[in-house]
Amino acid sequence: MSFTIVEQAPARMNRSELAVPGSRPELFAKAAKSVADVVFLDLEDSVAPDEKAQARKNIVQAIGDVDWGEKTLSLRINGLDTHYMYRDVVDVLEQSGERLDLIMIPKAGTAADIYAIDMLVTQIEAATGRKKRIGFEMIIETALGMMNVDEIAAASPRNESLHFGVADYAASTGARTTGIGGPHPDYGVLTDVEEGAERRYHWGDMWHYPVSRMIVAARASGLRPVDGPFGDYSDPAGFQAQARRAAVLGCEGKWAIHPSQIALANAVYSPSEAEIAKARRILEAMEQAQKDGKGAVSLDGKLIDIASIKQAEHMVRLAEQIAGS
Ligand code: COA
Ligand code: MG
Repeated sequence: MSFTIVEQAPARMNRSELAVPGSRPELFAKAAKSVADVVFLDLEDSVAPDEKAQARKNIVQAIGDVDWGEKTLSLRINGLDTHYMYRDVVDVLEQSGERLDLIMIPKAGTAADIYAIDMLVTQIEAATGRKKRIGFEMIIETALGMMNVDEIAAASPRNESLHFGVADYAASTGARTTGIGGPHPDYGVLTDVEEGAERRYHWGDMWHYPVSRMIVAARASGLRPVDGPFGDYSDPAGFQAQARRAAVLGCEGKWAIHPSQIALANAVYSPSEAEIAKARRILEAMEQAQKDGKGAVSLDGKLIDIASIKQAEHMVRLAEQIAGS
């Protein structure tokens, strides 16, 4: 281990994160009753400019009036380049009760963006006597944000999670796609010419680099990495495939932009019975190995060692968290 200890953000279930436009208050109670781990009420891109002020009022009222149960409740504010942002923070925090848990900062570009909002939130908390500290979730969705992702992740003790905003990221980097997430038929490789063999075309995952890069930055600062939206909500198989590949890389959850995606995300991001049983067997085998004075042993013909303990503990911890939720 490094001498540098990575402080972990408060543990929260983040398998599914439902987006709810602040301009559609009729959806709030439905979101509260859903099985999403996190709900974010949006003031940013799902709300038209003329509706921003009313959406803010809707959200202030809903934070207090709706029974959000055990859910983590978040507010997506507008970007720092707009004139909406300061009121999003000031009005909602000053006028709503203590129920809000997180603020989601879109298009985070530099550590100073987070610093600025931290300053504002800290002042409001002190002035109004709020007791529960608001946490931050940052969307990494611009070239600038990706370039500065490490500094953004470490910018405030309020930081809890990083999210990959695939559509804005595509626009910002000039990627040739108009889809919201998912693969692209032009991003692939053709197998070499081989005598007598048919050449095959393999689609690749054009989002592999940014998702992996964000995961590293998040984990190095003790934050949860979360995969963003998959726009085609009439394609559950496509959603599952996207969710699975991000889970395999280390993400803890994925957004749901429609209620039908919530259960899919919860299923992908909950370890299966078989995975949990395997993790427990690894822990038992390593406990025995340590009693026998060995650092590495074999289980089912495969090497397991000290690193396997950490992987298995992560899996068991997650299962216990889910069971307790
Ligand atoms: N939260 C809670 N409930 C929702 C919901 C949401 N985000 N989106 C839809 N519903 C409800 C509908 O009210 C409907 O309920 P009902 O069965 O009681 O009538 C049910 O789920 C099915 O919805 P459907 O008719 O298929 O969707 P829609 O046409 O009303 O809306 C979207 C589709 C995509 C416009 C809507 O889901 C949405 O706005 N999603 C969030 C988009 C967003 O916030 N984007 C920003 C982040 S990328
Ligand atoms: Mg965006």
